[in-house]
Amino acid sequence: MNLTLKIWRQKDSNAKGQMVDYKVTDISEHMSFLEMMDVLNEQLVNSGDEPIAFDHDCREGICGTCSMYINGEAHGPDRGITTCQLHMRMFKDGDTITIEPFRASAFPVIKDLVVDRSAFDRIQHAGGYISINTSGNTQDANAIPISKIAADEAMDAAACIGCGACVATCKNSSAMLFVGAKVSQYALLPQGQVEAAERVKNMVAQMDLEGFGNCTNTGACEVECPKGISLDNIARMNRELLKANMS
Ligand code: SF4
Ligand code: FES
Repeated sequence: MNLTLKIWRQKDSNAKGQMVDYKVTDISEHMSFLEMMDVLNEQLVNSGDEPIAFDHDCREGICGTCSMYINGEAHGPDRGITTCQLHMRMFKDGDTITIEPFRASAFPVIKDLVVDRSAFDRIQHAGGYISINTSGNTQDANAIPISKIAADEAMDAAACIGCGACVATCKNSSAMLFVGAKVSQYALLPQGQVEAAERVKNMVAQMDLEGFGNCTNTGACEVECPKGISLDNIARMNRELLKANMS
């Protein structure tokens, strides 16, 4: 395939960015999207130009770093996958592909397609953990009865990889799907009950402090989430917050 790529270039967080056109040729439909980006970068390096900065690590849908907005969709046109799992067979010869960073004021651009998502880390630090008794008298987790439904729902919530597609997709740049998943994975389990009230209050307060918008039940986040995180988690977070504020 021969393709035209329109890519956001921005030297640093203070620079004014712009879309720049590139051509790539002989791209195999079996390549991943990031491999296609590697081909372009090799081309740029060989011609003495600066390669395009983009985040990636695992390249298998686990780490959540490969945040790109492709043809107007977070992680591109496929469903239930991250950018690194997107394949070039989703495109056809002669296509023009638009590639931008995730856009949200709480995710400032660092360079080209790389955004600063440390706001998510600060939300996690505010409550995304449980305190563990390491005295030697810890109860075996397998000895704590947990219903199959609660275990399954907690595991589904824990599938969130913190990629930020929900924020980038939301017209309000809301982080409620992410925070809802992080609150839910503990709220559903007995181990999460001890700090439940403080956790939800602190995480929601940090989310608001970071400048994320509110949820208006549009549901775009759920559609674009590569891990199928359900809106039910937002409802659960709201119930947990109400319960915490009344206790
Ligand atoms: S909820 Fe989905 S889209 Fe949002 S950060 Fe988690 S995995 Fe990514
Ligand atoms: S590079 Fe890790 S999820 Fe894409």
